[in-house]
Amino acid sequence: MSNGRSFYITTPIYYPSDLPHIGHGYTSVAVDTLARWHRQAGDDTWMLTGTDEHGQKMLRAAAANGVTPQEWVDKLVTQSWFPLLDTLGVANDDFIRTTQARHEERVQQFVQALFDRGYIYAGEYEALYCVGCEEFKPEAEIVDGTGAFEGLKVCAIHSKPLELLQEKNYFFKLSEFGDRLLELYKTVPDFVRPDSARNEVVSFVKSGLKDLSISRSAFDWGIRVPWDDSHVIYVWVDALLNYATAVGYGTDPEQFARRWPAYHVVGKDILRFHAVIWPAMLMAAGLDVPRGVFAHGWLLVGGEKMSKSKLTGIAPNEITDVFGSDAYRFYFLSAIAFGQDGSFSWEDLSARYQAELANGFGNLASRTIAMIERYFEGIVPPAGHELTDVDRAVQTVVAQAAADADAEMERFRIDEAIGAIWRIVDELNGYITVNEPWALAKDDAQRERLGTVLYTAAEGLRALTVLLSPVMPVATEKLWVALGAAESLGRLQDQPLREAGAWGVLRPGTNVNGLSPLFPRVEQA
Ligand code: ME8
Ligand code: MG
Repeated sequence: MSNGRSFYITTPIYYPSDLPHIGHGYTSVAVDTLARWHRQAGDDTWMLTGTDEHGQKMLRAAAANGVTPQEWVDKLVTQSWFPLLDTLGVANDDFIRTTQARHEERVQQFVQALFDRGYIYAGEYEALYCVGCEEFKPEAEIVDGTGAFEGLKVCAIHSKPLELLQEKNYFFKLSEFGDRLLELYKTVPDFVRPDSARNEVVSFVKSGLKDLSISRSAFDWGIRVPWDDSHVIYVWVDALLNYATAVGYGTDPEQFARRWPAYHVVGKDILRFHAVIWPAMLMAAGLDVPRGVFAHGWLLVGGEKMSKSKLTGIAPNEITDVFGSDAYRFYFLSAIAFGQDGSFSWEDLSARYQAELANGFGNLASRTIAMIERYFEGIVPPAGHELTDVDRAVQTVVAQAAADADAEMERFRIDEAIGAIWRIVDELNGYITVNEPWALAKDDAQRERLGTVLYTAAEGLRALTVLLSPVMPVATEKLWVALGAAESLGRLQDQPLREAGAWGVLRPGTNVNGLSPLFPRVEQA
């Protein structure tokens, strides 16, 4: 049921040397939710994630563990990175590893093409390098070390000493692309989102671009420069190309034309690579630039960017083991404005789980189904002929919430989309309170009215289930079955998302099934 509109979306490819933490999980569930939304809306969707396996950081980590870099990444990817997708309920279409032949060969082809087009030259280089970032650091991101690193220059992000590198390198003529990039940001105003990220990128480019060192010769864990095998390709050039090699760049023109260009969702730490270097590389190769780059904020723990290297890393399964994957997804995607930093705390997570999921959504679902079981022998009643203003208000709220949610997802504002959908939860809970079906049930003369109220609640719940399915695939699937909709309407993931707000889809006469609590009480240590 594709509408022919292509929607290709990517996560960064993560360094597998770090174990996955909730920051990586945040990006992945955000991208998965956007992909699920578009897929279910009928867009020709493709979601890519993967791992970034070359570079000095990886080589050193492997050496420190006494294994080859390939053994090291194989082990980490298999033991930690593939399982993360399951832990978080991510339904990616592909997973690329930069050590795969399909990637390595095409990266060489791309770099050769830039060389042939005259965008690469050999030069000398001396600069301070951060192995944590795998990047030569600009002045503004170099700070004085403290404590054990007193007297040294350290990276502002990693707080670790920088290394002075002096090498013969190949350079990409990035400096030639400043004007074209500024033109791009101007003609496609939402190429970089949110605005704060766009402003940062524009002023960075306006301040003048330097050519980029794109090869290293001091070590060999990387893809060989095709015309000079004493050099390997700089890990970021290698990594950025994953977005193209994974969809057939250089091998499958049909697939490439169908998927490319992509939307990239990244943390703001790697914004410049995606919004400056990557589009310039593509321009140099004569390929289309990405559709857009969305930079989200950082998860902060105790006021600092959460990271493994600073020992503030929290593993995603610490959360999912207690609260489940749906709660993980819901919490991070609704509690943090997408594009801004957000603080994580167990207290906040617990409080929202209880208030919004257990008491708000879960309870609405349980009591609606329980009342249909109790008062109508488990069969969804028809609505009566006479609708009141409150009944019609529910229909209006549902239609408006569905339209608003789609518009927000279109802008990548997942948090706002969930906020719009949550208006249905609040409306239905209020509707049940006001209409007191338990009181109507005591009066035979109110039988038709009782039917209207429970039909309205159940049909509202039907819309809610469809709209929330990209965010919380597990709980909504359970609820879909409980509503009897799986049998009468078909699979949840086949329900057209952009029509979720239409009224009267759930058929009277449908058999509901008992529902155990969607968000059970949790015992926290
Ligand atoms: O940078 N808050 O990989 P990486 C939010 N391999 N998101 C966070 C986060 C935090 N505290 N910490 C990490 C790399 N992330 C390169 C990318 S892409 C061609 C190459 C997320 O393992 C966020 O998406 O360091 C960030 O951009 C990414 O993990 C960095 O992952
Ligand atoms: Mg990092």
